[in-house]
Amino acid sequence: MIRCALFGAGRIGRLHADNLAAGKQVEFVRVYDPDPEAARAVAREHGCEVAQRDADCLAGDVDAAIIASATPTHIDLLTRAVKADKAVLCEKPIDLDIARVDAAQPVVTASAVPVMVGFNRRFDPGHRRLREAVAAGELGTPEQMIVSSRDPGLPPRDYLAASGGLFRDMMIHDFDMVRFVLGEEIKHLSATGSALVDPSLRELDDVDSAMVLMTTESGKLAHINCSRRAVYGYDQRIEVHGSAGMMLSDNPTPTTVRHADAQGTGCAPRLYDFFLDRYAQAFANQLAAFVDAVERSAKPDADFHAGRQALRLADAATEALHGRDPSLVSP
Ligand SMILES: NC(=O)c1ccc[n+]([C@@H]2O[C@H](COP(=O)([O-])OP(=O)(O)OC[C@H]3O[C@@H](n4cnc5c(N)ncnc54)[C@H](O)[C@@H]3O)[C@@H](O)[C@H]2O)c1
Repeated sequence: MIRCALFGAGRIGRLHADNLAAGKQVEFVRVYDPDPEAARAVAREHGCEVAQRDADCLAGDVDAAIIASATPTHIDLLTRAVKADKAVLCEKPIDLDIARVDAAQPVVTASAVPVMVGFNRRFDPGHRRLREAVAAGELGTPEQMIVSSRDPGLPPRDYLAASGGLFRDMMIHDFDMVRFVLGEEIKHLSATGSALVDPSLRELDDVDSAMVLMTTESGKLAHINCSRRAVYGYDQRIEVHGSAGMMLSDNPTPTTVRHADAQGTGCAPRLYDFFLDRYAQAFANQLAAFVDAVERSAKPDADFHAGRQALRLADAATEALHGRDPSLVSP
């Protein structure tokens, strides 16, 4: 049984709390949030303790920490947890500043405790099937990958202002999916973007619509198509085309009904509204994979290196968007 503490009782923290309470081989011991009412609400619902200070949350009786707090707190909490020999599942991004990630890397590398980054999409059954098909050669030699990633609508302005921009906040998941599915590093990248949904995002030096083209080390091509708006719901599709065929991990829908009437046939249900529903299974699978890695003292699937590489790609795309040369030379 893995004893687990939770940092952050906000939107994603509450989701992790639900999964911790429902998970197998895991006990939800305590929660910390500087907003005491948020922490108390989680504790009331799940019967765990409330830590009065962040340091108390990592007390000796826990084996692992889930870091679901605001992004600027991640790297400090992660480093302290690893130094205290606690396994970590840290939400994405590890940090917005690659220099701070690099400064923490020696601590993570020197430690034997598993550190996992919250790239939940790796644990989506459809996306994982795609990865397995590519790895098993079912599509022959993969040649092209297309990721369509569209949120239903813009988040609030204050969220956007602190987000680090579209590439680091949102597309970071898609960069990870390209590395995960194709199993290769990226050698070249170009990016274009625009503030089409809300032109005032230019004041934040940000975009809400972007396209990135990438070439992997072996020459495979990948394209990410990303928007902060899709009026038809949360749109998440990944396609890989190879020498022996194509595979698409399509949007699941809440039901599978089809409607036929005098206007036409085959009208499909709306997509899921957003990530909490669309990736509910992926988040539960992610926690199970984390608990399994902690029990076996194994390297988790989405490790610190994956978190760092995805941030490097997001940084490179940001550079490319501004017309600067995106250097991907260093490992
Ligand atoms: N994997 C995903 O798909 C996904 C989705 C959404 C958010 N996230 C990530 O999760 C993180 C949280 O996002 P959110 O949407 O839940 O934000 P949120 O604002 O709803 O919640 C953040 C919570 O962290 C708390 N907090 C701040 N400092 C803290 C500290 N030192 N210790 C503990 N708690 C602290 C805040 O009080 C707040 O309750 C962000 O890094 C975000 O990028 C990941």
